Amino acid sequence: MTELILLKYFIITGTSRGLGEAMALQLISPEHRLICISRKKNDALMAKSSHLHYIEYDLNNIDGIETLMEQICRQIDMANAEGIYLINNAAVLAPFSRIEQASSQALMTSLHVNLLAPIVLTSCFIRSTDHLQIEKRILNISSASAKHLLPGMSVYSASKAGLDIFSRSVGLEQGNEPTSVKIVSVWPGMIDTSLQEEARNASQDTAASADIFRMVKDRGMLASPAAAAKQLIKLLLGHSFHQGSVVEELRAEPGT
Ligand SMILES: NC(=O)c1ccc[n+]([C@@H]2O[C@H](COP(=O)([O-])OP(=O)(O)OC[C@H]3O[C@@H](n4cnc5c(N)ncnc54)[C@H](OP(=O)(O)O)[C@@H]3O)[C@@H](O)[C@H]2O)c1
Repeated sequence: MTELILLKYFIITGTSRGLGEAMALQLISPEHRLICISRKKNDALMAKSSHLHYIEYDLNNIDGIETLMEQICRQIDMANAEGIYLINNAAVLAPFSRIEQASSQALMTSLHVNLLAPIVLTSCFIRSTDHLQIEKRILNISSASAKHLLPGMSVYSASKAGLDIFSRSVGLEQGNEPTSVKIVSVWPGMIDTSLQEEARNASQDTAASADIFRMVKDRGMLASPAAAAKQLIKLLLGHSFHQGSVVEELRAEPGT
């Protein structure tokens, strides 16, 4: 008789680089199946596992997300799943400028990718897994920028504050029934990725904010993506994943 192997499925957005790539790399295991999403395919990541399905998708395209979720669900054998996890990680920093300097296009993209796409993905995820009495968790990667404000980052901060409130609200809706989806928002700390690099490159009107990001880098205060990913996975799979919470204190050791 063949033994039934129960699998954990991870849907991760923003896996072409940075934190998303680091989380995907650490989640690779024979008992895990990964569904990775970004605009640009990550060939190096794909080469590491035959249990990884990559979908090239632009999350600025909100209208296509329901179809995207159908495509994702086709990769999941619901009967053999012991857990399904959605990590809303993809985000953009732009526009890193005073609000009157930002184009309406850039403002829309920011809110689409950082807030509306995670909202629609959450809605589709809950609808698609409603009937399953297995572990179902959503981790929204937010930011301390939801609370700590800097000139030039108004729309980024607004999107992350929105993500935190959204997570708390959906947590309330879901409650603690056996079929509930658990949802948490987390501030991952400052991490050495291309997003930080972008923040160090000032335009004239955000020079003071860029100085702060340069100082943080110069003082060795940035964690590596791998160290931050380790903490996030511990949160996602551990006992401290409290329904509707916003985890502000997750910190990887800088320089690790
Ligand atoms: N780095 C930090 O210090 C820091 C601090 C607090 C919070 N965070 C949060 O951590 C998360 C990861 O950030 P990171 O630092 O790893 O950033 P990153 O290196 O810039 O990576 C961002 C990822 O998001 C994807 N992405 C961007 N726009 C997309 C779109 N339109 N459609 C699909 N995917 C898109 C990118 O892939 P493509 O370009 O290939 O699409 C990339 O894989 C974000 O939510 C960020 O807000 C970061």
